[in-house]
Amino acid sequence: MREASELSTLAIREASYAAAAGEGAARVMLRCATLAKITDKPGQILRTFVSPAMNEVHRTMRPWMEAAGMAVGMDRAGNLRGVYPADADADMPRLLIGSHLDTVPNAGAYDGVLGVLMGLALVESLAGRTPGFAIEVIGFSDEEGTRFGAPFLGSRAVVGELQGALLQRIDHAGATVGEALREFGAAHTDAVDASLAPGSGAYLEFHIEQGPVLESRNLALGIVEGLAGQSRGNVVFRGRASHAGTTPMRLRSDALAAAAEWMTRVEAIASRFENAVATVGEIEAEPGAVNVIPGFVRCSLDVRHPEDSARDAAVRAIFDEAHVVGRRRGITVEAEQYHEHPAVRLAAEIVAMAERAAKRAGYATIRMTSGAGHDAMVMAPHLPSAMIFLRNPGGISHHPDESVAEQDMAAGLHAGLCFLDEYAAWIGKKEGGQHA
Ligand code: GLV
Ligand code: MN
Ligand code: MN
Repeated sequence: MREASELSTLAIREASYAAAAGEGAARVMLRCATLAKITDKPGQILRTFVSPAMNEVHRTMRPWMEAAGMAVGMDRAGNLRGVYPADADADMPRLLIGSHLDTVPNAGAYDGVLGVLMGLALVESLAGRTPGFAIEVIGFSDEEGTRFGAPFLGSRAVVGELQGALLQRIDHAGATVGEALREFGAAHTDAVDASLAPGSGAYLEFHIEQGPVLESRNLALGIVEGLAGQSRGNVVFRGRASHAGTTPMRLRSDALAAAAEWMTRVEAIASRFENAVATVGEIEAEPGAVNVIPGFVRCSLDVRHPEDSARDAAVRAIFDEAHVVGRRRGITVEAEQYHEHPAVRLAAEIVAMAERAAKRAGYATIRMTSGAGHDAMVMAPHLPSAMIFLRNPGGISHHPDESVAEQDMAAGLHAGLCFLDEYAAWIGKKEGGQHA
């Protein structure tokens, strides 16, 4: 008898979760479209670290978060943070749900913002009820590294790693990270220090998959168990600028021709290492005139691999090859790696919780390793972390054609509501409390 009534309570709860997830997904879809209009560059989506567009995103999101019952503030690293409180008498570890609000140039409408808006929608679907623990929704100010080249400035600040040389990096206008932050701090006198709140218990991030795997497997959701490590660097080629009409081919020191030869080698070297990817995504060539041989070229380099030793070996081979090309052509080469993040495995217990939550919501999942970098990489060494990927129809990201279906957002939110139950049970067990 009792079992039957428990079963019907469960069925009612599942039905109400499904309904709330459906309503939440419609809001997430509309809000992604609203935020996609806020840009630093008309005609495309571009929002960078503490930029005017980032401020406008904050101004737009604040009232949504406040209406959901959150206390909202910005920290000194430009992260937007909203806290949905626990019961006054509950002292359970809070759950952080976040992702980033910045974008690459000419971005899609979902990379980053989706995860922040999913967190907000989960809080909204509680409709004032407390799950027994506080929820902090974080919109990180920088994950892509578009403005300063170095990624994860927002999450690195929260875990205490935004310091030293990182603060001295300069953007294209010559401002340092420190100066950009000081300007931001002056503009927002209510900003609080960027740090993890005491009693933070775990971190959950929803993110568009940014690839075709879930679509190919006909699955709405994937559970991330690990993230590939990444290296970022620069290779500079210095030749001799000279007249394009008068300098014979055999007497040239063309920095751009050397860089071009090296780039084809980057592709070949990365293909030799199974599971490695390497990209030259930015080139500066000077003086940059149709009738002048380029004397200076800077190429960016991005290398990823699920195993750190293989990534290191690939970076070394790619840098060595730049010197080989330079020597043969009489070009000076300087190569530097300025950012490195090791591969990360997410906490098995929390990953399993996310998997169970998706299953309870009625969704089969697969475990995945992310080739993309995510704020969860930075949070994971400090808090047990999980990521839930949402299917990406077409598999394209970092591109305006990026897309997510509303029904997959609903799937993610339904899984998220079940995750809140799993988390309550987990911290209840950990603390010996009654929150199962
Ligand atoms: C961000 O999306 C990255 O993977 O670089
Ligand atoms: Mn991205
Ligand atoms: Mn992202």
